[in-house]
Amino acid sequence: MRLFTTAAGLRCYLERHRRAADVGFVPTMGALHPGHLSLIERAKCENALVVVSIFVNPLQFSPTEDFQQYPRPLEQDLRLCEQAGVDAVFAPTPVELYGNRWSMSNSGTQLTQVVPPTPMTSVLCGRSRPGHFQGVATVVTKLLNLVQPERAYFGQKDAQQLAILRRLAADLNLPVTIVGCPIVREESGLAYSSRNQYLTPSQKAQAPILYGALQQAETVFQAGERDRVSLISAVKSGLALAQDIQVEYIELVHPTTLAPLEQVEDSGLLAIAARFGSTRLIDNIVLQNRKPIVAIDGPAGVGKSTVTRQVAKVLGLMYLDTGAMYRALTWRVLQEDIHLDDEPKIAELASLSQIYLTTDESSGSGGRVLLDGEDVTKAIRSQNVTANVSVIAALPAVRSELVKQQQRLGCKGGIVAEGRDIGTHVFPDAELKIFLTASVQERARRRQQDLKEQELPEMSLEELERDIQQRDFRDSTRAVAPLRKASDAIEITTDGLSIDQVIERIVTLYHQRVSASV
Ligand code: PAJ
Repeated sequence: MRLFTTAAGLRCYLERHRRAADVGFVPTMGALHPGHLSLIERAKCENALVVVSIFVNPLQFSPTEDFQQYPRPLEQDLRLCEQAGVDAVFAPTPVELYGNRWSMSNSGTQLTQVVPPTPMTSVLCGRSRPGHFQGVATVVTKLLNLVQPERAYFGQKDAQQLAILRRLAADLNLPVTIVGCPIVREESGLAYSSRNQYLTPSQKAQAPILYGALQQAETVFQAGERDRVSLISAVKSGLALAQDIQVEYIELVHPTTLAPLEQVEDSGLLAIAARFGSTRLIDNIVLQNRKPIVAIDGPAGVGKSTVTRQVAKVLGLMYLDTGAMYRALTWRVLQEDIHLDDEPKIAELASLSQIYLTTDESSGSGGRVLLDGEDVTKAIRSQNVTANVSVIAALPAVRSELVKQQQRLGCKGGIVAEGRDIGTHVFPDAELKIFLTASVQERARRRQQDLKEQELPEMSLEELERDIQQRDFRDSTRAVAPLRKASDAIEITTDGLSIDQVIERIVTLYHQRVSASV
């Protein structure tokens, strides 16, 4: 692992090592804990090169805050980064990053800064921390410009920061994907934070009450309550027993726009900030008012699409046929005679095409596929589309456009979807994630059977096993949408199980884990 304290060193390193490899970036202020490490782990899974920054950013601290006292255990942080497989750490000084125009006394007034929209910075933490999010937006913009990563990772723990940075990247067309990662908690429920180490033992024993109170509101929400006043009073009653706690705010806002909500329509961010002594802690939960999502991932050739279609039917949910979406786009590309190498043109077409899937069963094979209002259900099953769809689906720009459309179609929930990265990337907050797999031998045997049934040329089991192993390797090491099991997915090995048994198992899991809680 390399450590850089200057922008020049980091830039030179990245120029040499970037090549075709994707760079994942995790900005931190150090004092690393399992929350930070979860971001690094996710970045490791999705990128060939991982850069972590450790920089206590003076611009985001007000003069009365803990900039001087903020913990800076650099040696320990470097050890943790090394163990986590980080490639490079960037740990500059304030003068290195901001130059001499910055000093604590001029609080950054001599610098160009990035100003996020006022409605996003005047709520929640912004009320008591004026200038904080401007300082965050400025440093993150600088760091993104220096590292130029494909993806940058931020925690849902700081939900307001994450929403503001997503907006920043969108508004300024930053060429980076902002990846949000779930909150990591101690066993007590207390969210990990570098500031937890300021707590006395008795404060630390009380602090989990924040999450407990939020969960109380979640219970009320699950029972059908949608109203701001009632949800907030559920949090307050959850805090009633706590001593030595000063609540700064309990607010309900929209998770993306941060606009205050009177009612939860699709989803709501319920956030809290409170002081235990002089230590300020924050926490939040997202309340989702949508039907459940079932995500089924796994390697090729385990029967995912058959199982997924059937599971959707049995549960009365929509089958989000992502394959049909790639087919619809392929059909349009062929119709318009666009060269398959012209990725920019195809990406443009993907972003302009509106694909809809309906649950209408009259077409026989499930739903209908509409492309800009035109019914293409039959057309997309042509030989020509079949022969070209894998080329189109492998284009990174197409994948990222269609993932956006899949998320739009899935935002109200009530769907079952299958693929290689549905639970890890497309719907990371799916209520039920299944990782369907089978041994290479079993998949080779099934494939051999398929070939026989379709009267296609025979292949030996050894050849088929080799093919499958190669395909698994390619799929799990892809830069875009690699195949991997989500940490919260349930693995089902289908060796020795019939399709009906697999379906039954998933339906049972759904009833046990999902429908019981909605
Ligand atoms: P810092 O507080 O060090 O956090 C770095 C990243 O770790 C942030 O994206 C934060 O949301 C995430 N994180 C912290 N605790 C977490 C937890 N318990 N679970 C999951 N993720 C967690 O946030 C900052 O630094 C700074 O504002 C920064 C973005 C680096 C800009 O200076």
